Amino acid sequence: MVKKNACIFISGAGSNLNNLILRSRDYTFPINIKLVISNNSRAKGLNYAKKNLIPYKIINTHSRDFEHKLLKDLKRYNISIICLAGYMRILSKNFIKKFKGKILNIHPSLLPKYKGLNTHQRVLNNKEKYSGCTVHFVNARLDSGKIILQKKVKISKKDTEISLAKKILVQEHKLYPKAILKVFNL
Ligand code: GRF
Repeated sequence: MVKKNACIFISGAGSNLNNLILRSRDYTFPINIKLVISNNSRAKGLNYAKKNLIPYKIINTHSRDFEHKLLKDLKRYNISIICLAGYMRILSKNFIKKFKGKILNIHPSLLPKYKGLNTHQRVLNNKEKYSGCTVHFVNARLDSGKIILQKKVKISKKDTEISLAKKILVQEHKLYPKAILKVFNL
């Protein structure tokens, strides 16, 4: 299989990044992770890039020309698919246009419900019986692109924001690789 070069964008813990690194070691998995981007220099997830000798870049999203530099890096590593994994910034319309249909994101809710931040707390406040996670294509509107796959998770009465986040993260680690396989028709 000829694998595609992928770049993973993170901001925090990077458990999805680690999971995708492990999956991409499999020769039947369609991507190789060639670059990791973080907007946060203290993101714990950067350690997974370091440990696995994957090049990484810290971007300063407050600088005016950061997307220009970013596009250069993506070109340099011949990146053809971008996976957002806990990346907490919004990409510009122009950037999204350049990678149309090639940017994926994972969101910890059953989209279109609960777009945006503080998902789990809002779900609990509304006494929902189910939540879950969604992998979708990224378009110009937040958490609104075409859905690739979703997984439902039952909420128990005892669930807190932390326990629900943990439960959903376990499912995210199964869902993201599955969604990538689906995008490649595998
Ligand atoms: C995940 O719940 C993801 O859905 C959300 O942010 C969290 C990132 O977790 N967008 P990690 O950094 O991959 O551990």
